[in-house]
Amino acid sequence: MKDLLQKLEKDALAAISRAESAAVLQDVRVSFLGKKGAVTEIMKGMRDLTPEERPAIGALVNSLKEVLEKAFTERGGALQQAAVAERLASEKLDITLPGRGSFTGSKHPVTLVTEEIVELFGGLGFSVEEGPEIEQDVYNFEALNIPKDHPARDMQDTFYVSDDVVLRTHTSPVQIRSMLKQKPPLRVIAPGTVYRRDSDLTHSPMFHQIEGFLVDRNVTFGDLKGILTHFLNNYFGKGLEVRFRPSFFPFTEPSAEVDIACVICSGKGCRVCSGTGWLEILGCGMIDPEVFKSVDYDAEQLSGFAFGMGLERIAMLKYGVSDLRLFFENDLRFLQQF
Ligand code: DAH
Repeated sequence: MKDLLQKLEKDALAAISRAESAAVLQDVRVSFLGKKGAVTEIMKGMRDLTPEERPAIGALVNSLKEVLEKAFTERGGALQQAAVAERLASEKLDITLPGRGSFTGSKHPVTLVTEEIVELFGGLGFSVEEGPEIEQDVYNFEALNIPKDHPARDMQDTFYVSDDVVLRTHTSPVQIRSMLKQKPPLRVIAPGTVYRRDSDLTHSPMFHQIEGFLVDRNVTFGDLKGILTHFLNNYFGKGLEVRFRPSFFPFTEPSAEVDIACVICSGKGCRVCSGTGWLEILGCGMIDPEVFKSVDYDAEQLSGFAFGMGLERIAMLKYGVSDLRLFFENDLRFLQQF
C-alpha cells in the first residue's frame, strides 16, 4: 500500500509539472483527486485494511493529498503568471513611439483668392456684402435691365427653381440688394457662389464670382479704369499691361472687358492665351441709368461703376492651375499645395 502511494505521488507530481495550461491541470486534478480519481479510490480501499494498519496508511494518504494540493496550487499559480506575462508581452505598448500626427487643413485656393481680393478692395474703402444663392428673377435679371425676352438670358443658361426664383447666375444682383438697402455713396465688394447650366473642361455648373461697385456723385470711367488697373497691378504684378476692350452688358453703359498681358508667356503668345498674348479677366462698365431707376436712385445726380470676375479663373491664372475641375474634386494632395 505504501509503495502504491509513493508511486501515485510520483505520477501525480510528474503529471502536474507537465500540465501546460489551466485546463490540462484541471483534468489532472480530476484524475487524481476527483470523485473517481486515483487517490479517492485508494481511500475507498482503506475499508479492507486492518484497524492496526489504518492510522498509518490514513496519515500517508492525508499527507499525499496535502502534497498534491500544494503542487496543484503552485502549478496553477505559475501557469496563471505565465499567461499574464504572455499577455503583457503580446500587448506591449511602446510609449516611446511618436504619436500619429494630425494635420491641419489648408484654405481652398478659391477661398484664398477671395480673401486676397476682398482685402485689397478693403484697403480702398470697399465693404463686403452678400446676397442669397437662391435669388428672385427680379434681382437676378429684371432690375439689372435684363427683361424676360432679353437675349442675354441665354448667355447665362439658368437653373430655375420656379417661374420667378432662380439659382443666381452671377453676383450682380447684390448690386440691387445693396442699393435698395443703403443710401449712396456706396462702395461694395460682393463675393459669392453662382450657378449656370454649363459643364465642360472650362465650365462648372457651380462656380464663384466677385462683384464690385461704387456709386457716388461724379464717378467717371476714369475712376473705374484707375481702380481696376491698381487692383490688377497689385494682384498680378506691378507694371502688368492692362487693356480695356469695348463690350456689352445690359446693366452697364458703356461696358468693357478687361484683359491682362498673359501671365504665363508675358504677352508673347502661348496655349493659355490662345496665342493672343492677352487674358480676359473681368467685365465692367458704368452702371446703366436703367439700373438706378429700378432701385429709385436719381441717375441725374449719381453715377457709378461695376465690375465682376470669375474667381476660379483668377485662381487658375494666379497659381498656374490648368484644369478647372481640380478645384471641385477636393483631392487633398492638390489642396495642400496652397
Ligand atoms: N455679371 C457678369 C457675368 O456674370 C459680370 C459682370 C460684367 C459684372 C460687367 C459687372 C459688370 O458688374 O459691370 O458675366
